[in-house]
Parts: sequence; C-alpha cells; structure tokens
Amino acid sequence: MCGIVGYVGKRNSLPIILDGLKRMEYRGYDSAGVSIINSENKIINFKKAGKVDEMSKSIDKDIFSGNIGIGHTRWATHGIPNDCNAHPHFDMDDNIVIVHNGIIENYKQIKSKLADEGYTFKTETDTEVLANLINYYFKQTGEFEKAVRLALTDVNGTYGIACLCASEPDKMIIARNGSPLLIGIGNDETIVSSDASAVINHTRNVVYLEEGDMAIIKENGFKMKTIYDERIFREAKEIDFLIESIEKGGYDHFMLKEICEQPDSIQNTYRGRINFDTGITKLGGLESVFDKMLNAKRFIITACGTAWHAGLVGEYMLEQYCKVPVEVEYASEFRYRRPIINPDDVVILISQSGETADTLAALREAKKYGATTIGVVNVIGSTIAREVDAGTYVHAGPEIGVASTKAFTSQVMSLALITLMLAAEKKTISKDSLKEIATELKSLPGKIQNMIDIRNEYKKVAELFKDSRNFLYLGRGINFPVALEGALKLKEISYIHAEGYPAAEMKHGPIALIDENMPVVFIAPKDRIYEKVISNIEEVRARSGKIIVIATDDDKDIGSYADHILRVPRSSALFAPILNVIPLQFLSYYMAVARGCNVDQPRNLAKSVTVE
Ligand code: AGP
Ligand code: GLU
Repeated sequence: MCGIVGYVGKRNSLPIILDGLKRMEYRGYDSAGVSIINSENKIINFKKAGKVDEMSKSIDKDIFSGNIGIGHTRWATHGIPNDCNAHPHFDMDDNIVIVHNGIIENYKQIKSKLADEGYTFKTETDTEVLANLINYYFKQTGEFEKAVRLALTDVNGTYGIACLCASEPDKMIIARNGSPLLIGIGNDETIVSSDASAVINHTRNVVYLEEGDMAIIKENGFKMKTIYDERIFREAKEIDFLIESIEKGGYDHFMLKEICEQPDSIQNTYRGRINFDTGITKLGGLESVFDKMLNAKRFIITACGTAWHAGLVGEYMLEQYCKVPVEVEYASEFRYRRPIINPDDVVILISQSGETADTLAALREAKKYGATTIGVVNVIGSTIAREVDAGTYVHAGPEIGVASTKAFTSQVMSLALITLMLAAEKKTISKDSLKEIATELKSLPGKIQNMIDIRNEYKKVAELFKDSRNFLYLGRGINFPVALEGALKLKEISYIHAEGYPAAEMKHGPIALIDENMPVVFIAPKDRIYEKVISNIEEVRARSGKIIVIATDDDKDIGSYADHILRVPRSSALFAPILNVIPLQFLSYYMAVARGCNVDQPRNLAKSVTVE
C-alpha cells in the first residue's frame, strides 16, 4: 500500500530516508514518520499526519542523527490518519520499532492474545500489534531475528516490514509477504525500500525480496533467509527503469497501473471477509448496524459519478438476492430534493475519496431524518468514513488516476459482500448457492488477470475508433450500470461524447442517432437476457451502426452479429459487472492515449470534487 525506506551504512541516515520518502509521495499517503538509532543506541522516533515536508520541518535534526534508520509514508487501512497511528510504531517497551505496508488480517486475534498477556496498545493500527508480537517472542528467545521470524509465522495477511531493536542496535531486519520490498546495494551502505524510486539515486544494483523472504542488514552487508529460517540467495538485478516510469510501476500512466492492479485490489477488498467453505461473509465495520440492515424497509444508495454506477449495481444485487427495495440517488439531487427519508431506512453512501461534497451533504441530510447511514469508502479516516454510523472500507489502495477504475470494482465487490452477508442472515439465498458464489469469487482475480494479459486485443479495437465523435454504450439488467460506467470513462479521459443507455430503450428515441458513424458498444454476456440483447444488436446493425460487443469466452454465435468482439471470462450475474467493466476501462484508456490526451489528469476534472 504505501512507502518504506531504510538505511544502514556510514552516513547519517535521516536525509537519505527523508529523500526516499519524498520520492514515493506520488503514491498518495496520509502521514509519515522516521526512527533512527542514535549514538547512545536509543531509538528516537518522530511521526506526523500530513506531508513529508511538514514532518521534515518539525524534526530536530540535531538529535536525529544515526547511521541506521527507517521511515514510512502511510496509506491508512486500520486506524484513522493521525500522528498516533502514523508509523513507525514502537512495541510496549520502546525496544522495537517497525514500519509496515499491508494488512495484518488476524491482528484482532493476536491483539487480544497479547492483551491477555498484559500488553497495552497506544494506537488503532494492526501494525502496532505486530510490534508487540515481536516483543513477545523477543522476551521468549532473547534474539531479535528469531523474534521477528516467529512473529511473522503467526501473521495472516500482507506485509512489507522494516524493523529495528535497541537491544541489538547494529542491524535492521526486513521481510516481505504480499507487499514489495527491495535491497539497494550501495558502496558500504544498504538502502531498503518498497519502491525502486527511493534507492535509484544511490544505486541501481538491487535485490528484490520474494514472498516469505527476510533479510538481516548490518554495516558490513546483509544475509537473507526465509521466515522459516532457510538460508537463501537472491541474485542482484540492475534497475534499468527511468525514475519517472518507476513511479508508475513501469506503466505509462497511473490509470493503466490501477487497471492492472485489480486482481490484487479485488483480493484486498474481500481478504479476510468471506469464509470460502461456507460463503458466509463478515464485515466487521457493519456489525453495530447489522440489525438495522436486516430490518430495513428500504435501502437508499447515494453517490456521484462512478460511485453512483457502483450503487446501481448494488441495487440489482440487494433486490435480487436480499429481496429488499432499493433506491439509487445522485447525491447532488438527493441533498436538494427534500427526500422522504424514514428512520427505518438505511442509506448507503459510496465514495472513493470520502470527501465528495455532494455525497457528504447527502449523508448529513440522511442523518437529519434519523436514517442509519453506512459508508462504502476507500480512503481511511476520510470525512464521510468518519461521519457515517458504520461502514466498510473497500481497501482498493491509493487511486491516483482521476478516472476511477480499481475503486469501482472494489466498490462493486464491497456491495456484493454486503449482499451476501445480508442474504445469508435473511436466508434469501441457499447455503449451496452461497458456497458456489464463494468459489466463484475466488476465481475473479485470475479472470481479471486473463483480460489484462490480452489487453492488446482491446487496444487494437480502441485504435480503430480513436477519431470517433460519439459512442453509445448499451447494456441490460445488472450490466446497464456497466454501460454507464464505460461511457463515463470514455468521456472523461478521451473527451469523446459517449452515452450509456439501457439496450431496450434504444427504440424509444436514441436509435435515431444510429448510422455508419455511430460506434455502439453492447455488453452481451451469455446470460438469461442474451437473446434480447441480440435483438437490440440486430436493430442497430439494420441501421449500419458499428457494433462492438463485450462477449463471454464461450459465446460462439456472437461473431455473426459483431464487427468487433472484446472477450471476457464467463461469470454469474452477480460478478459480471466486475469482469465486463475491464475491457471498457482498457477501451477508454487506449483511445485516450491514441488521441494524445492527458490520461491521469484529464482537463476540467479533479480526483475529488470537494466543492458543490
Ligand atoms: C470517476 O472516474 C470520476 N473521477 C468521478 O465521477 C468520481 O467517481 C466522482 O467524482 C465520485 O468521487 P468519489 O467516489 O471520490 O466520491
Ligand atoms: N495497515 C497499516 C496501517 O493501517 C499499514 C498501511 C499501509 O500499507 O500504509 O497503518
């Protein structure tokens, strides 16, 4: 999720760590901090919500001197962004300090076990639990390296960590599972980081840690082993990227990087929240309002833009699987419409940034009428996340590109998890169906990856239509919101006018637009209304429209109807929107690139619309 820098060598570590943290600012973060072992072998620690520059100005550089240190920029997942929850985190005895990227899924269980042993905690984070777990094993073994290893074998989840120990002040220990870490090999110095951009200024000679690797780093070099104490050797590689491309992980744009992150971001959304054997889902953040949700007479979903499209998908899910009435409202309309809201209504507010002014105003309107409010938000500790009665974080990670991609699929996944949690309790879905859905859910990251692997197929089609002036996107049922989302993506980054529409509605007016200059994208998975969509395609073909179809892999018939086919893996209706949107994200991306548009910062747009 965010940024780690560590230094062991002959130079003062502080300026090197601060420079490294600055170079990772592009990743988006909410707080930063540094720990250094000083000349009296004490660990000194400074951390602060806000930017690295603010932290750097506040640090007393005279006392912050030492040749071993670690630093972090945090993207909060557990605990709001504030000074206290910022990293590095001490153990209870201020002997061990740690910085961590990722999510410790079983931190609550570990925390309660440690609390029973008398451990106390100062923060809300999962990371502090790991610091105290290392302390626990350090007390048992007296060895820092062994304590780290044993602690990590207890952990479920993802981590990239760097940690120091005042009792053994000559070393730094790092480890990786699911969150990248690399070792930069300098001249008599070692710089570790989660991102090559932080080391490239000092060395291009790096060793990438693999899953389950750890390294013990001292002034005279480092040794590597697995967390199971097996010695390993990893070959050093030469960083041949340019610094600019590293910031985007080797991709040309953040948007492309974030589209390609979706196999991981989707997993982060459901990780630790569904039992794959039973399909039973547990969203801890909704426990306090679950009764209200179960007894809700109506759900109102309100949001803006892409988040509103996710809400429309949620409407299909909740009505179809939970048999509860749902209304979806533009937040900007909802807040001014003097809506009829009852205390037994549940209002779901969806927002990537958690700061959208219209959505925040809708939240406050709903609370005024006594409705229960739930947030589906990406940015931890954001205003909407703090003001709702309860909520679930989508854990998509920082989304830098203005055009929302991975946040959308994580929002839809979160709504699916809410649906499953409710349906299981209301028994509106059978146990067998729950198990089938859980099995299918596990296959989604691989299916998304399959589409990422064939993205050049989508690119070829995109480049054929880059000079179009208009586009229509048509879908039915749960795929109608996907048509809207595909149209919005194209509009906002390529500046081509595009309209999403229910496919059956074409004949009530928009079909007048169809001619040989009108490309029409149909979302036509082989589902129960496939034949209906084929009829709509025929209507457009009869008027010389250019047909692009999102079709499932197993559809052998579509070739006789489509001019171009963008293939997607087959799935149930519940997860179809998550898969069907992927080619549309690529289509808009490659058309915008072909048109030379500023993909990551499109004209007139902001990543978070905090004004009315
Ligand atoms: C989506 O690509 C746009 N950037 C925009 O519609 C966005 O979804 C909308 O402004 C809502 O933002 P939020 O999710 O941060 O509330
Ligand atoms: N889960 C940790 C926290 O919330 C680390 C977040 C990150 O990856 O920056 O503090």
